[in-house]
Amino acid sequence: MVAYKSKVVERITLPSKERRTQALEEAGYNAFNLPADDVFIDLLTDSGTGAMSDDQWAALLQGDEAYAGSSSFDRLESAVADVMGFERVVPAHQGRGAENVLYGSLLSEGDVALNNTHFDTTRAHVSNQGADPVDCPVPGAHDPATDEPFKGDFSIEQARAVVDEVGADQVPLVILTITNNSTAGQPVSVENTRRVRAFADEIDATFVIDACRFAENAYFVTQREDEFTDATVAEVAREQLGLADALVMSGKKDGLANVGGFVATDDEALFEQCKQRAILYEGFPTYGGMAGRDVAAMAVGLREAVEESYIEDRVEQVRELGAMLEEAGLPVYTPTGGHAVYLDAGAIFPEIPAEQFPGQALVCELYREGGVRGVELGSFAFPETDRPELVRLAVPRRTYHREHFEHVVETAEAVLENRHEVSGLEIVSNPAVPELRHFSASLEPISAEAATTVDAGSD
Ligand code: F0G
Repeated sequence: MVAYKSKVVERITLPSKERRTQALEEAGYNAFNLPADDVFIDLLTDSGTGAMSDDQWAALLQGDEAYAGSSSFDRLESAVADVMGFERVVPAHQGRGAENVLYGSLLSEGDVALNNTHFDTTRAHVSNQGADPVDCPVPGAHDPATDEPFKGDFSIEQARAVVDEVGADQVPLVILTITNNSTAGQPVSVENTRRVRAFADEIDATFVIDACRFAENAYFVTQREDEFTDATVAEVAREQLGLADALVMSGKKDGLANVGGFVATDDEALFEQCKQRAILYEGFPTYGGMAGRDVAAMAVGLREAVEESYIEDRVEQVRELGAMLEEAGLPVYTPTGGHAVYLDAGAIFPEIPAEQFPGQALVCELYREGGVRGVELGSFAFPETDRPELVRLAVPRRTYHREHFEHVVETAEAVLENRHEVSGLEIVSNPAVPELRHFSASLEPISAEAATTVDAGSD
């Protein structure tokens, strides 16, 4: 049941097919280069793209822009204490700013960081410290077609194998990303979180939770974990987050804000270290790179994120988009995650080999066909890994309605119908940092004659 109505609206238009084809060419077949005005339904990300509530807009006007001692920071501190259970907060301009502050304080050259799956910016910040980011997903995490309830969990077995190899002294940090964005937004159980806590204690490592989507994760726990079927989302969130030594947070997700982030901890020494590093990179520790008004809006958003009516509508809306796409015959990663539906482009275009980026071909066709923007998370974004060829359709919070989703489904159906006419792509210009190529590389479609197709059999 939708628990809000619209008070302010934003006009969106569907450009002509001719314009869309031209825009795609001008963008070098990279959706990150499309002007947002040329996009009709924007499912590129759920990060900072949602609608704020009237209470959040009111908080913006009350924002205290004092350089030091801002009362907006007091509001944030008390929201973090109430919702997440931590007393010490270091604000940052967004999640990756908080990652720099925290991981810069915890990691040194030659260390290893373990994570259920590192999100791109997490991996980059760990590497930036000269440390090695190692993923420990559970078996089956990358299988798009199973129905396990907690495919986002952390594999203690894999982590133990890494520790046996490099030695516990080399592993000062264990991270748990909830929900697991790089594993199709899948949740992590509280039971698994407890096991990770015990494992971190065993190897004497700091246990950090990347809490970007903590409320969505807590909702899944109330739905899927027997111990918590009678608990509230707010109770689960505190129970789960309370197992960590520190949190790293992007307020652009479950802070329901357009910008912002923070580190939270109860560890005095770590807090002091983070504060000093934040002054260098983010700003004075009562604003941390944000305007006071944005700190205030994030404080209100954090409280709203664990309201039952909000979070149920949020996660169920994403599930509904997944179900609608599946019903229309599209191959969808199951179960649907908390913030996005992931389409299996490898199953849609079996003739297009990984080197010709079937996921990116799907992104381009969804845009050309219906002005819908998604993002590739397969062999274009993650070169030289054996991940499935997924395309993420991320749903901004409190923004789109069923009619928008019907358009997305019709668009995807049309692409599926015409799939045999779609060719792969090749990169024509590559940025200097290969790990970040999907943000800025330019591509071109491969002509039918030049394409080397794989033998996919008939369908
Ligand atoms: N950690 C996770 C799990 C994330 O999903 C993100 C951002 C970050 C950290 C960094 O936060 O963007 O505020 O700097 N994810 C966005 C996305 C960009 O589209 O999934 P940020």
